[in-house]
Amino acid sequence: MSNVHVIDHPLVQHKLTLMRNKEASTNSFRRLLGELASLMAYEITRDMSLQEVQVETPLETTTGRMIDGKKLVLVSILRAGNGILEGMLNVVPGARVGHIGLYRDPETLKPVEYYFKMPSEMQERDIIVVDPMLATGNSAIAAIEKLKALSPKSIKFVCLLTCPEGVAAMQAAHPDVPIYTASIDRQLNEHGYILPGLGDAGDRIFGTK
Ligand code: URA
Repeated sequence: MSNVHVIDHPLVQHKLTLMRNKEASTNSFRRLLGELASLMAYEITRDMSLQEVQVETPLETTTGRMIDGKKLVLVSILRAGNGILEGMLNVVPGARVGHIGLYRDPETLKPVEYYFKMPSEMQERDIIVVDPMLATGNSAIAAIEKLKALSPKSIKFVCLLTCPEGVAAMQAAHPDVPIYTASIDRQLNEHGYILPGLGDAGDRIFGTK
């Protein structure tokens, strides 16, 4: 599976296992997701470009290197993507934020768009799309299609969990978009849920079940 990066850092795996536990409270699930997102952000932003800046230390002037956080856009696929957003913003606070609202039709499992709001000048920006679960891939594929129409400089996709079916669908539709995940689980079930998975990410983040 080229272009798929499994982030297997021990801290990421430990926290993911705590999140899978059905007894985890809404509070701890949300906190763990935020922590995981911050940890994953280190890996995902590893290749971000740096620019040289002058900085005055208490002793002399020197040249340092900094990233331009404002060129980065984090795009959350509502609503579960918002669970990842905050943790990533802790690490890249200067990033702009876009939102895409897509819901999964329970019959067809196909995405239906109800909201799309992006920062300006998208053609100058690097995009990181976030959604905790890459399951059928339908929502992520549709979201990335819309984003590609804005001609951004690059697009990456970040999820907490995926499965072979989700990876295959995404790679067939968008082979140029790298996928970053903490785990490729065993399979998708007939209802579009990942097994063993962690259940419905949105419900677990927001306590709606
Ligand atoms: N969305 C979820 O929240 N969970 C899954 O397992 C699949 C899609």
